[in-house]
Amino acid sequence: MTDQELLKIAAQAKERAYAPYSKFLVGAALLGKSGTVYEGCNVENASYGLTNCAERVAIGVAISSGEREFEAIAISVKGGGSPCGACRQVLNEFTPKIRVLMGDEEGNLVRERSLDQLLPESFGPDSL
Ligand code: THU
Repeated sequence: MTDQELLKIAAQAKERAYAPYSKFLVGAALLGKSGTVYEGCNVENASYGLTNCAERVAIGVAISSGEREFEAIAISVKGGGSPCGACRQVLNEFTPKIRVLMGDEEGNLVRERSLDQLLPESFGPDSL
């Protein structure tokens, strides 16, 4: 699985986003150490605060499928955006140095960071 392929999967997942309120579509593709890819899109709700981000949907799919360690996550949004703080924290729980590939709506790489760059001095399982 190349980074380009993962970004394309994220861009396709974005097309399934349920975002009638913000109209901001997000797709995520999470690559497990096994090689399996777990997909997610944002899922909004009329009770706005119940919205789920694409990244956390993908993590939920992965964990409930039995995979807990990851190589990379690709995210697709218009212009290529950065994952929110809540999603950084949830990613940190499982793979603190996961590669985060930020792609535009077509799945072109905009920039890449390691999660520990995006969430320095994090609080995680070892902090307890
Ligand atoms: N959103 C995500 O799916 N991931 C992020 O990292 C940032 C925000 C979604 C939530 C909401 O549906 C929309 O984008 C606007 O905030």
